[in-house]
Amino acid sequence: MAYSKKVMDHYENPRNVGSFSNSDTNVGSGLVGAPACGDVMKLQIKVNNKGIIEDACFKTYGCGSAIASSSLVTEWVKGKSITEAASIKNTTIVEELELPPVKIHCSILAEDAIKAAIADYNSKKK
Ligand code: FES
Ligand code: FES
Repeated sequence: MAYSKKVMDHYENPRNVGSFSNSDTNVGSGLVGAPACGDVMKLQIKVNNKGIIEDACFKTYGCGSAIASSSLVTEWVKGKSITEAASIKNTTIVEELELPPVKIHCSILAEDAIKAAIADYNSKKK
């Protein structure tokens, strides 16, 4: 199966690989796994006091499409409000990366990871 140019680009040059300290109350962390293949994705956001995501990073143990999906999402959420970021759909990731049907679950992993990171951030703020 051929990977699209965009997947290869994110795979070769992943954006925002890394991690933030989870003890920081402005950091939300999402850790999700794909039952279909066992891949694991960690996505973190750093939110300012206006509710804007100032920074994001990820670590993905998984296939090229999962790495590309998480890399893309960290780029997309920077500068967005947490509400905007929560509305990112896996179908938009599929379109952007031209993922084939067998790789759709990789994009769902990225949607789940950003949602989990936002939920974690919100729970810390309570
Ligand atoms: Fe092998 Fe995901 S199934 S990396
Ligand atoms: Fe399972 Fe991509 S995340 S194959």
